[in-house]
Amino acid sequence: MEELLAKAKEAIHKSYAPYSNFKVGASLLTSGGIFTGANIENISYSATMCAERVAVFNAISNGEMEFEAICVYHNGEQMPYPCGSCLQVLSEFVVAEDFTIYVANDYKVEQYTLAQLLPVKFEGDLDV
Ligand code: THU
Repeated sequence: MEELLAKAKEAIHKSYAPYSNFKVGASLLTSGGIFTGANIENISYSATMCAERVAVFNAISNGEMEFEAICVYHNGEQMPYPCGSCLQVLSEFVVAEDFTIYVANDYKVEQYTLAQLLPVKFEGDLDV
């Protein structure tokens, strides 16, 4: 956990958040190592991407799809609880009960499973 938090704190330096000024760093523990991400905003607002999904896409585009835990860090007073879209994206690749989510700010760290934060998910409408 300490290493994951340290990497999330490092990743926040890459955040591009000129509109909200709310910086987030994420670090994802995979079977092939730790991959990081930071939130990247856009002037259109809706094209903004969260730190968690940047970390997930970073891992997958580097060939890693086995995830164990993620740490999400904000350098302020608010807690950066992952949004629904990020939880849904994570749920594609993990067993929700076995995947740990650490949410951290400068004052505390909370620990959850994905199953706690996303008890149900969209499972598709096709028989694939
Ligand atoms: N954001 C994240 O990167 N992750 C979260 O856990 C919640 C929100 C970003 C999106 C946007 O750049 C900024 O925080 C404010 O919503």
